[in-house]
Amino acid sequence: MSYGPAPEGDAPVRDWIAQHGGTFGHYINGEWVAGTTTFEVLEPATGKSLANVAQGTTADVDAAVAAARAALPAWQALDDHARARWLYAIARGVQKHARAFAVLETLDNGKPVRETRDIDVPLVARHFSHHAGWAQLLDSEFPGYHAYGVVGQVIPWNFPLLMLAWKVAPALAAGNTVVLKPAEYTPLTAIRFAELLHEIGLPKGVFNLVTGDGSTGAAIVNHPGVDKIAFTGSTEVGRAIRVATAGSGKGLSLELGGKSPFIVFEDADLDSVVEGVVDAIWFNQGQVCCAGSRLLVQEGVADALFSKLRDRMERLRVGSPLDKAIDMGAIVAPVQLDRIRALCQQGIEEGATCWQPSWSAPQDGWFHPPTLFTNVAPSATIAQVEIFGPVLVSMTFRTPEEAVALANNTPFGLAASVWSENINLALDIAPKLKCGVVWINSTNLFDAAAGFGGYRESGFGREGGREGLWEYLKPSRAHEAAPLPAIAVGALASGEPLASGEAEASPLPAIDRTPKLFIGGKQARPDSGYTLPVRSLSGRLVGEVGEGNRKDIRNAVEAAQAASGWAKLSGHQRAQILYYLAENLSARRDEFAARIVSMTGDALVAGESEVEASISRLFTYAAWADKHDGAVHDVPLRGVALAMHEPMGVVGVACPDPYPLLGLVSLVAPLMATGNRVVAIPSERFPLAATDFYSVLETSDVPAGVVNLVTGSRDSLVRTLADHDDLEAVWYFGTHTGATAVEKASAANLKRTWTEWTGREWLDPRVGEGREFLRKAVQVKNIWIPYGE
Ligand code: NAI
Repeated sequence: MSYGPAPEGDAPVRDWIAQHGGTFGHYINGEWVAGTTTFEVLEPATGKSLANVAQGTTADVDAAVAAARAALPAWQALDDHARARWLYAIARGVQKHARAFAVLETLDNGKPVRETRDIDVPLVARHFSHHAGWAQLLDSEFPGYHAYGVVGQVIPWNFPLLMLAWKVAPALAAGNTVVLKPAEYTPLTAIRFAELLHEIGLPKGVFNLVTGDGSTGAAIVNHPGVDKIAFTGSTEVGRAIRVATAGSGKGLSLELGGKSPFIVFEDADLDSVVEGVVDAIWFNQGQVCCAGSRLLVQEGVADALFSKLRDRMERLRVGSPLDKAIDMGAIVAPVQLDRIRALCQQGIEEGATCWQPSWSAPQDGWFHPPTLFTNVAPSATIAQVEIFGPVLVSMTFRTPEEAVALANNTPFGLAASVWSENINLALDIAPKLKCGVVWINSTNLFDAAAGFGGYRESGFGREGGREGLWEYLKPSRAHEAAPLPAIAVGALASGEPLASGEAEASPLPAIDRTPKLFIGGKQARPDSGYTLPVRSLSGRLVGEVGEGNRKDIRNAVEAAQAASGWAKLSGHQRAQILYYLAENLSARRDEFAARIVSMTGDALVAGESEVEASISRLFTYAAWADKHDGAVHDVPLRGVALAMHEPMGVVGVACPDPYPLLGLVSLVAPLMATGNRVVAIPSERFPLAATDFYSVLETSDVPAGVVNLVTGSRDSLVRTLADHDDLEAVWYFGTHTGATAVEKASAANLKRTWTEWTGREWLDPRVGEGREFLRKAVQVKNIWIPYGE
């Protein structure tokens, strides 16, 4: 049996384009602004011209940012309910014009109207409606937080309207105003969306649209009037944006590429698997960042599955995306088609076996047949590089361990799909996968209530759900504290003896304690063989510490890597160790207080309050260790999404100078509580409280390698951390120059960074501890599991 064509009418949409004379401008400050130049937008299914669209200049971006800035006070002054009403109105507007949006998207992007009608556009409406809810609940659910301000958003072409919704809905719900740039291949639904907002009467300047290519995107990213950038697109551009925004203080979330594994165990239901594969890699022609593009099959069922797959591929229909009976439409642009073809060719040349159906894809647009590669080496280009097309690359494995190793053998970490009828096996594998989303016996499920986003080089930040909303909020409390004064040079110049405090008090020289580092649970001599003097604020020599170098940092990272068992302990067990640390610190309270004041020159009482605050802080995170729960997201599909808080892994920490003990404890304890391992650089000016802390760590059952401390020059040591590939994140509390360098260097493997150079009043628990720290210490993995009917 074969299907006849069932074309969707496109006349109303083509009429809409014609009514605009086929040319569209930017939408800035509630008005349409003609571009100084335009570019052509083509229809992927025919290669014909569809419209002309303005190419945004820096002047256009300036105007859009100014409009967004001007609109901000009134938009933020609205109460939650008023903003909720606007978001709800957008959701209703999208629903009312759903078919027009779906057809326009199909014309512009080339994806089947079946998908735009049944997936993209309903999810867009769902996103605005879900976020109307968050707008309504903002004050009660996010107290102490407020919007970033003006948000710049740059989105790709694979889900043009859906990516817009993922970005715009949370931004507006949180009280931000927006400047958005759609991808140059697919700007039309964003333009229609701006028109919808105009019809609804959204206050001018709240949403601004500037069309254009990458140079327009770069102008938004670099604009000093933008407070936060949210980007979805290629990892390459994401990296460039990380470098461009380094040190700017702008918030940043990146949703980048993937090479997601689709893992099939031999007890899986193979017929379901086949339909899963169709959705994983042939949905949207495989132009999906989380596409299940690597099929990993247990050896025993590989041949059976490949055979079923080839049968199914033979029956897939590729053709006009307006035909409601087709499975795959066109590739978005010739450059993408060429890239897919070139990668397939490379796969063949590298020795893999390529299989395509016997029929040919249409030739009049940019079509590519579904393609299956078998006999692929894990190191082959097609197994490593994101193809972003309908090309499935398969490999086999024998054991679950091998499956996990293959799955994680990629710098990406966006999503994974696990297929097995054995729930124990599936849920054993899910936590071992390094990625932000895991689908059990399902694939490519999305919902506004569940966060989406990557681990590793797939970017950072989440979109959707409560976790996604945090990306558009920042703490209301200012974190500024007075900087430390410089060391009193006058005191040194006056010839004051540079004796240690201990030596002064005694007629005999004190027994020297050789300064060391703390690596892998042991005190270790610095590789350099050098020591650094530690002076009090008045310039007195109060001791010495080891001068750590790159090698020490590398050794510390290695030790931390080896301590992976820490993440597997229960929250309760981690809490016990944090309590024990507090107990042992408490026993040496006076000694620590004296040490602190010997460096800072404060009155003893200041040292005592710092030690007391450090003990209390350890209690805080011991308390949190078994309470920083994830969530169960209620998604409108046959399942639930378990939003798990997972540790990032090994985290580098550069501590602030003031509060030498409390600063260290405030940063290390939340990371420990959440299962991370730490390589910390203590206060550079006052490191002695940290070196004293070694012995507290040694006597408190902290497993070797969980906390490593390397003293020395903060900004040069942290560079080694920021450059290190085996580190997942760096927290830096120092200078603006240092923060800029950390953010720039972090782009290499897209580490999560948290930088601050304004200083904090660490003694104040409202600023120095709590959920803000815990949230930064974890990443959310959403595991979709079948549940209920
Ligand atoms: P791209 O990353 O260049 O484009 C995405 C968006 O970024 C577009 O709006 C573009 O105009 C803008 N852009 C480009 N350069 C920019 C810059 N320097 N600063 C700011 N914005 C900039 O992706 P492209 O070239 O369209 O596709 C290339 C490959 O990227 C694809 O083959 C695919 O592998 C990957 N990709 C991944 C996506 C995802 O969802 N993860 C989406 C699109 C592409």
